[in-house]
Amino acid sequence: MNQHNMKQAAATAAIELIPPQSIVGVGTGSTVTYFIEALATIKPHIEGAVSSSHASTKHLQALGIPVLELNDVAELPIYVDGADEINHDLQMIKGGGGALTREKIIAAAAKEFVCIADQSKYVSKLGQFPLPIEVIPMARSYVAREIVKLGGDPVYRSGFTTDNGHLILDIHNLNITQAIELEQRINHISGVVTCGLFAQRPADHLLLATDTKVKQLKAAQKV
Ligand code: 5RP
Repeated sequence: MNQHNMKQAAATAAIELIPPQSIVGVGTGSTVTYFIEALATIKPHIEGAVSSSHASTKHLQALGIPVLELNDVAELPIYVDGADEINHDLQMIKGGGGALTREKIIAAAAKEFVCIADQSKYVSKLGQFPLPIEVIPMARSYVAREIVKLGGDPVYRSGFTTDNGHLILDIHNLNITQAIELEQRINHISGVVTCGLFAQRPADHLLLATDTKVKQLKAAQKV
């Protein structure tokens, strides 16, 4: 299986985990694109979706899946999303597609977070993938200087604006040993909206596609 086939296999496997007549939280990215396509096949069996980005909303609506506002939803039983990296504790780096803030809000609100990924995303240590941080525009340089103090090398994602009207700094060369502490520390810098570390609220399940099959993993259950 190539990487696209693996992404599709993980995404399709997530359909089995959707409770009947539920509202489904939907992430963003190429793996989620396959998930949205699979979700359309069970359209009569779900009530609708809560979306983490304009791109996912457009795709969901194009396939006739009702998109609801998170504010109008009392309970979100499940959230399905990809990751840029995921470790053995199911902590993640997310935000490669720039949707990290809305993704983090939906992850927080959801009862179960299912990460769908191909095997290239599964790592023993987070940080090879640059950590995205969503930043209020006027704070860009200040936040960058604070990140340098933490040992990271910030790179401004030029020409990119998030769905919330903010900027992204991609942080290279961070030594991520204590992911929860680092997530809190970065989130406390004034001007940071949120960082793409999902450690305080990791995934509950990982559907990891390998060359031969899709494995369902929980935290610290190594392949
Ligand atoms: C978007 C994300 C995505 O989940 C992450 O970038 C993975 O994307 P892909 O499925 O395209 O590899 O966090 O903000």
